[in-house]
Amino acid sequence: MMIAPSILAGDFGNLQREIEMLNDSDASFIHVDVMDGVFVPNISFGFPVIEAIKKQAKKPLDVHLMITNPDQYLERFRDAGAGGITVHYEVCPHLNRTLDAITKLGIRAGVAINPHTSVSLLENIIEYAGLVLVMSVNPGFGAQKFIANSFQKIRQVAYLREKTSSHALIEVDGGVEDKNAFELMQAGCDILVAGTSIFSHPDPAFAIQNLKLAADYGNRSHAGFLGDDRNTN
Ligand code: DX5
Ligand code: ZN
Repeated sequence: MMIAPSILAGDFGNLQREIEMLNDSDASFIHVDVMDGVFVPNISFGFPVIEAIKKQAKKPLDVHLMITNPDQYLERFRDAGAGGITVHYEVCPHLNRTLDAITKLGIRAGVAINPHTSVSLLENIIEYAGLVLVMSVNPGFGAQKFIANSFQKIRQVAYLREKTSSHALIEVDGGVEDKNAFELMQAGCDILVAGTSIFSHPDPAFAIQNLKLAADYGNRSHAGFLGDDRNTN
């Protein structure tokens, strides 16, 4: 299992320290959440912050665009350091054009679906995607509760991938923690995005290692760290 810690949950006053921690950790990617305040009811950060992250990062940046008009910024995100760009199905009327444009920039093209968006809608687009991101919360905020029917959606994406001989990676984002990691692996996930469960741990590098072990081996010895106090937005 690959782990992509979401830097959104990190300490922006100590960004360099956070990136150094991730560089030395078991993380495979650094997940970068870009929010525009239009597609999602929150604003995060843009190019200068991504460039600053890229300067320190030794892991590829997995950029998740929660913005309404991704097409006009794709090249700038690549130039800022994105190793892959994921756009949302819900805001791309010409999705295969968008995914093609990302691929032509020489980076991985991902498509994300919101919790209410059916996996069947990916049938005609999965062949253009290097990654499918299943949102397991409504995007916009960290620290939300995992939506349980995401397991079923991941199984459906895994089935579609097999049926179409696609090589797309399957990623899940939102409310991921050691308690659900093993089931996510069994459902077919390749990449777990996690923010709160990593950065609110007193030892985030340990939390990354623990999440990976929990996914691969079902190690639940540290389950329950966060309790059940998450909210669904
Ligand atoms: C939600 C973002 C997520 C978020 C994950 O809109 O896309 O990447 O930061 O955070 P947690 O792990 O706290 O749910
Ligand atoms: Zn994300």
